[in-house]
Amino acid sequence: MCGIFSYLGRPGNASKSVIEWLKRLEYRWYDSAGICLVNHEKHVQILKSVGRVLELKRRSDSYDFSTYHVGIGHTRWATHGKVTETNCHPHYSDSGRFMVVHNGIIENYAELKSMLIEKGCTFYSETDTEVLAKLYEDCYTGDHMQALELLANQISGAYGMVFIDKEHPDRIFWAKKGSPLVIGFWNEEQFVSSDYRSLIGLIDNYIVLEDGDMFLLTPETYTVLNTIGTVDRMKHTILEEEKVADLGVYPHFMLKEIFEQPDVLQNVFRGRIDFENHSLHSDTLESISQLSIEKITIVASGTSYHAWLLGKYYLEELANIQTDVIVSTEFKYKKQFINSNELYIFVSQSWETADTLDSLKIVKERWGHVFWIVNVPGSSIARVAAQWLFTRAGIEVWVASTKAFVAQVACFLFMALYLGKNRWLDYKKYRAILDALSTLSEDMRFLLAKTEEIRSIAIKYQNYRNFFYLWRSHELPIAMEWSLKLKELTYCHSEAYSSGELKHWSIALIDENFPSIMINGGWPLAMKNNSSVEEIRARSWKVIGIISDYDTQKNLYDDYMCFTPTIEEVNPFLEILLLQLFSYHMANSLGRDVDKPRNLAKSVTVE
Ligand code: AGP
Repeated sequence: MCGIFSYLGRPGNASKSVIEWLKRLEYRWYDSAGICLVNHEKHVQILKSVGRVLELKRRSDSYDFSTYHVGIGHTRWATHGKVTETNCHPHYSDSGRFMVVHNGIIENYAELKSMLIEKGCTFYSETDTEVLAKLYEDCYTGDHMQALELLANQISGAYGMVFIDKEHPDRIFWAKKGSPLVIGFWNEEQFVSSDYRSLIGLIDNYIVLEDGDMFLLTPETYTVLNTIGTVDRMKHTILEEEKVADLGVYPHFMLKEIFEQPDVLQNVFRGRIDFENHSLHSDTLESISQLSIEKITIVASGTSYHAWLLGKYYLEELANIQTDVIVSTEFKYKKQFINSNELYIFVSQSWETADTLDSLKIVKERWGHVFWIVNVPGSSIARVAAQWLFTRAGIEVWVASTKAFVAQVACFLFMALYLGKNRWLDYKKYRAILDALSTLSEDMRFLLAKTEEIRSIAIKYQNYRNFFYLWRSHELPIAMEWSLKLKELTYCHSEAYSSGELKHWSIALIDENFPSIMINGGWPLAMKNNSSVEEIRARSWKVIGIISDYDTQKNLYDDYMCFTPTIEEVNPFLEILLLQLFSYHMANSLGRDVDKPRNLAKSVTVE
């Protein structure tokens, strides 16, 4: 969640590089930032600021950093201690010799802190990270790698921690467990980052560190050590398509990514679905279909979890495989029955979600069949799992997931069709779904043209602070995702409930200040939904409809957003698009920071 960036290279370049590339890590978090620079004369400069990296940059402009050649920097997502300059990283050891930045959580920091205070250390911040700086000094007897090992043996939790030693300004050293760290090289400059994406534009190849690795970087060479001694780590190459991540004509990345979705869907299906011959191709899924799988358990968080609720519907209805979905934050704490006829699927739009990654490791350790659906080839999850399907959504830059979600849902539908065709799926149904998918990108483009219409409805409702999302049956994930997006972007309260539950209890929540949004795409339970709308209208409360163009009862709604339905299994893609636009426009008209909603980070790398 926090971002780390370090630089070792030419005098004068350290501050520029670290600050410039910290800006790229802001999507991880953006409440405060700090840097520490050292020069060959062993002078240390620490600069911290609350707010965006731009503020740090503004402050740095009044300093002369022309002699500084090594630096570490950090963007913070507060876990321990408030958002203050004192709590900003880097933190330093008692003597001021060692400086550290850290991503992760040190779970036993309180007891280590007491121990260090007893030994005479002074603490200034409320953070767990400051313990690392003091403890490192306690462990150091002249050998950095030995000190790192001693330090790692005493701490529990997750960490990617990077140190500099002012007495040895020609080196950077660090250790990693749980939290990601990568290294890149270019000419005589060397970079360490918590995310390879921050290195795009700087380097072509990067090395990814594994858990347990310790690393020492000098101007001439680098060494990776773990418990078995020196190890080699594979080089990854930055792909051409990853190099393009600018806004273009759009005011926000979120809007840009919403508009990219028709192309994303074409990417997802390219080479996998032959629409002319109605055939499907995937070696991975072919080998999965040979496994005699009887049950699937899906593990994910947030929007990815909602994607999988749709996945469950597809897998059960089309492939006839019983499917459970569980949030990754809960999975690892429940009793697990790992059976040889069960497939565990892990889903992540980013690449480093700690909860999902931990859950995956548990199943792997117990020899369960592990499968993942992920968007980033070189990601932590990609490196741990054995079989996978890439979602091919391209880089999703800021916090709210849109195109990655749609690509995930498309992958699940593809998977259900693939497994279903070898099992139980009715051929007529199979053909009809493929036909609907073949025009889906065009259908989405048509719907995107309604963005202004949706904007005017969003503006009309922008002053309400509570919303109800109503659904029946498999429209549940769509309602939940609508509700999540609205909360995430506007900070309004919203709930997603079955419209059937209204009369049982949830109608007690509604009043004239609490509009309901009925997702009623014309599926079999449309008439039941209409009765629920009548119940709300009978009390003169507001209802917005997400309905089909062919709906004959549009007059039931105060306002409605329409789409042209295709087939039950494919309609969710269109309903989702309307929800994304509605939430985006409402957040934008409320003046929210759409790409950087408060308190959220793109990659949730701590538990
Ligand atoms: C999506 O808009 C959210 N930002 C969030 O819920 C996200 O889906 C969740 O943190 C899981 O992330 P992942 O898909 O990268 O694992």
